[in-house]
Amino acid sequence: MTMFPARERGPARSLVRIASGTALIALANWGLGGWITPPEGEYRAGYIVILVALLIPGLLGGLLAGMTGNHSRAAHGSLAGLGIFVLELVFGAVGSGIDIGTVIVRSVGFTFGAVAGGYGAVRLAEYLERRRTAGIVEPQDGETSSALLEVDGLTMHYRTSAGWVSAVDNVTFRLHRGQALGLVGESGCGKTSVAMSLLRLIADNGEFRGGEIRLGGVDLLQLSEDDMRDRRWADIAMVFQGAMNAWNPVYTVYDQIREAMVAHADPGLTEDQIRERVAELFELVGLNPEAMDRYPHQFSGGMRQRAVIAMALSCDPKVIIADEPTTALDVIVQDQILKELKKVQSELGMSIIYISHDIAVIAEVTEVMGVMYAGRMVEFGPTEEVFARPRHPYTYLLLRSTPSISGPRRPLAPLEGEPPNLIDPPGGCRFHPRCPFATERCRHEEPGLAAVDGGADHRVACWNWTEVPVGMPEEVTA
Ligand SMILES: Nc1ncnc2c1ncn2[C@@H]1O[C@H](COP(=O)(O)OP(=O)(O)OP(=O)(O)O)[C@@H](O)[C@H]1O
Ligand code: SF4
Ligand SMILES: [Mg+2]
Repeated sequence: MTMFPARERGPARSLVRIASGTALIALANWGLGGWITPPEGEYRAGYIVILVALLIPGLLGGLLAGMTGNHSRAAHGSLAGLGIFVLELVFGAVGSGIDIGTVIVRSVGFTFGAVAGGYGAVRLAEYLERRRTAGIVEPQDGETSSALLEVDGLTMHYRTSAGWVSAVDNVTFRLHRGQALGLVGESGCGKTSVAMSLLRLIADNGEFRGGEIRLGGVDLLQLSEDDMRDRRWADIAMVFQGAMNAWNPVYTVYDQIREAMVAHADPGLTEDQIRERVAELFELVGLNPEAMDRYPHQFSGGMRQRAVIAMALSCDPKVIIADEPTTALDVIVQDQILKELKKVQSELGMSIIYISHDIAVIAEVTEVMGVMYAGRMVEFGPTEEVFARPRHPYTYLLLRSTPSISGPRRPLAPLEGEPPNLIDPPGGCRFHPRCPFATERCRHEEPGLAAVDGGADHRVACWNWTEVPVGMPEEVTA
């Protein structure tokens, strides 16, 4: 399936691995047996030809081990070493003049050297990988509450034949370690575009126009494509909108999760380890592990979606983005999956960005939330606080149009009008054509996100937020 693009490695990284692998092979060989010396006389040419023939696959195996990080490739190096052992034995015995003891020591040395070198190259590659991501995955010096993800002024537009679509405009927010953050807003307000920007998986016609996305302090927008590929899925993963319908029908669910893990998780995992991990993930998301060898069509919609979540978790990411993960499901399954996601998040200590156009879903699963309108973040704050005291007119109207799950019954007022065309959005505050609180200033000046009541937690982008009523109108009953 196409949920995980193939992991590719940069040429520079491969060179480091090749060089380190070769150096380790040479070092171990030198330390154990010394260099091979071709015999003098009539056997010399034959010896060299066979030696080269053995060395080529051996070195290629070592190089491949370095490039792919695959332990089994190191075996090629050791096979070549064994071949050289036999070669030395035969030529040594038939009169190279080198005493048989030296021949044995050198050959054994080369064999072990090849094995140790190949293995060492793989281990070194893994160590380099861990160091590169250490700043992201581990809290520094015992800190627990620093922002894991900091998005500042993110701006991303799409080029179309009719003009530029301003899909993400100056979006700023923070996600802390272990936190659940919700993004809510009507269809087309830019939620998926923000998510795709965070993974740097925007469509070909998308273009970043500014801003920063810092994950563990590293600006993802400044990384090379190779470095970004390595962080995607391993550090930040996504359950795509509609992904439960993207399973490939001809492979079992296990095969497809396995493929993703081989491409993006530790490449040295054995088949048994992968099966064990998939079984664990199945249990975690409420699926029976025995179902893993079934085909997607043998799964219900809810099961397919749970399996998509298991796949996104398979590389143990620190941030997971779930884009409308329950939208296509009936309410009972939706509720079960939301509970499952909450459980998984707290058990694994992950940070999650939960995207939904359904504000009731956001209320249920998140601690902080951002409200997007027409490509902009218009309100951001603790979920409870935003629900209790929405300060942006759009949030207020959105809440008024949604039935309250726990509060008293109240009249619902449909949200009038449509979000604007983002090729030519309204000037000033983009919500002004639909806003009952709009003033002249709103038509010309764009409000920035500013703290509500001086508190840093709750912020709103509105000139007239003090005008927004506190609390919803109560239903008048006869
Ligand atoms: N590849 C693209 N090319 C041009 N415009 C695009 C592209 N992808 C999205 N858009 C536009 O960008 C805006 C934001 O779209 P996005 O999909 O991010 O919204 P959304 O909030 O996720 O909506 P939904 O709730 O329907 O999933 C919309 O106006 C959409 O039409
Ligand atoms: S800035 Fe003006 S138009 Fe925009 S939401 Fe606030 S009151 Fe309404
Ligand atoms: Mg979307």
